[in-house]
Amino acid sequence: MPADPRRHVSFKPFPLSLPERKRIVPVFVVGKGNVGRAFLRQVAAARPALAARDVDLRVVGIAGRSSFLFLRAGIPDAVLRAAADGTARIEDHPRAEPHGGLADLAAALAARAMDGQTIVDVTAEDDADQHAAWLRAGWNVVTANKKPLTAPIDRYDAIMAERSRPWSPAYRFEATAGAGLPIFSTLRDMAATGDRIISVNGAVSGTLGFIFSACEDGARFADAVAEAKRLGYTEPDPRDDLAGTDVARKALIVARLMGSRLDLGDVAVESLVPDRVREDLDRRFLDAAARGRTLRYLASVSADGVRVGVEEVGRESPFGGLKGPENMFVIRTARYDAAPLVIRGPGAGAEVTAAGVFADLLRIFDT
Ligand SMILES: NC(=O)c1ccc[n+]([C@@H]2O[C@H](COP(=O)([O-])OP(=O)(O)OC[C@H]3O[C@@H](n4cnc5c(N)ncnc54)[C@H](OP(=O)(O)O)[C@@H]3O)[C@@H](O)[C@H]2O)c1
Repeated sequence: MPADPRRHVSFKPFPLSLPERKRIVPVFVVGKGNVGRAFLRQVAAARPALAARDVDLRVVGIAGRSSFLFLRAGIPDAVLRAAADGTARIEDHPRAEPHGGLADLAAALAARAMDGQTIVDVTAEDDADQHAAWLRAGWNVVTANKKPLTAPIDRYDAIMAERSRPWSPAYRFEATAGAGLPIFSTLRDMAATGDRIISVNGAVSGTLGFIFSACEDGARFADAVAEAKRLGYTEPDPRDDLAGTDVARKALIVARLMGSRLDLGDVAVESLVPDRVREDLDRRFLDAAARGRTLRYLASVSADGVRVGVEEVGRESPFGGLKGPENMFVIRTARYDAAPLVIRGPGAGAEVTAAGVFADLLRIFDT
C-alpha cells in the first residue's frame, strides 16, 4: 500500500524574510556584564533556530567600559561562548581596541557602520544622549538599561523625537521592567487599538519581592536583606534597592509611555534605607499578620500620579500571593476594567532579562 503523503508533511518554521534571501542582522552589544553575557550565550545557542528562519544574526561588536572588539564578519560563536562563560575576556582578544567612553565608541562605530545595525545597551550608564545619537545615526536601539528612559524629560523627549521621525530606526525597551515579561508590548498594543489605560499597579522589584516574602515567613527585615545580598539578588550595595529608585524608574517608564510628563524627582518614593524604617517594618509586618494581611513594595501609576512604597494587602489577594522575586503587573483599562489584565512571572535575573532583549531584537525584523 502506498504511504499516505499527509503523514510525511514536515513543517518548517515560518521564515522572517524571503527564503532565498538570508537576512543579515548586525548587532553591537554595549555591556558584557551579567545580562550581556547571558545574551551572547543565548545568541550562540539559538544559531540553528535563527538559520531555520533565514536570519544571519552577526554579533559584530562587544564593548566594555574601556575597550571593544569589532569583527565585521561577525564574532565567532566560540568567542561569544567563551566571553559568556568567562573563559576568555573580550579585552584580551588580539583585535580588541581601547575606547575613551560611549561618545568615543559611537565615533568608532560610525566609521564602521553597517546597514541596519542594532545597538544593544546592557550597561547601567546614564546614556540618554547616546541613545538619541545612535537613533539619529540610523541605528536601531534595544535597551535593558532604564537610565536613558528615566533621564530628565527634555533628554527623554530627544530620544522619542528621533524615534518618531518617518522611517526612523526601531527603539525597544521591553526588558527595562519585568525583564522578559511582555509589559510594554501589551501596553502599546492596548493604546494602538484604542483602549484607554487607567492604571498600572505592580510588584516590580525581584529583590524587594524576595525580602518582603521572607519577612512574611517570619524573617526579620535586616536578616532578609542580608540573605538577599548573600544570594546575589541585591545590587552590590543593597541600599540601591532599598531606596526604591529602581522601582521608581520602572514606574516612570510605564507612566511616560502612558503620556506622563513627570521626572524621576516627581515620583513619590518611600525609601527603606533609614535604620528606623527597618525596625518599623518588622512591627508593621506583625500588625498586618494579626489582621490576616501582609506587606508588599508596590508601584502605582495612574492619572493621580506615580507612587512607590509599602502597601498592606490581603494574603489572598493577587499581590499577597506572590512568592520570592516574582513580579506582577495589574493593568486596568477601559476594556479590562471589571477584571484587570494580570501579567506575572520572574521579573529579574540575567537569563530572563537577556531573553527579553533578544526577543525585542528579533521583533524589529519580524515586522
Ligand atoms: N540583572 C538583572 O536582573 C536585570 C534586570 C533588568 C534590567 N537590568 C539592567 O540591565 C543592565 C545590565 O545589568 P547587568 O546586571 O548585566 O550589569 P553589570 O553586570 O554591572 O554589567 C554592566 C556592563 O556595562 C559595561 N559598561 C559600563 N560602562 C560602560 C561604558 N561606558 N561603555 C561600555 N560598556 C560599559 C561594563 O563593562 P566592563 O565589563 O568593562 O566593566 C559591564 O560589562 C542594567 O542597566 C540593569 O539595570 C538588569
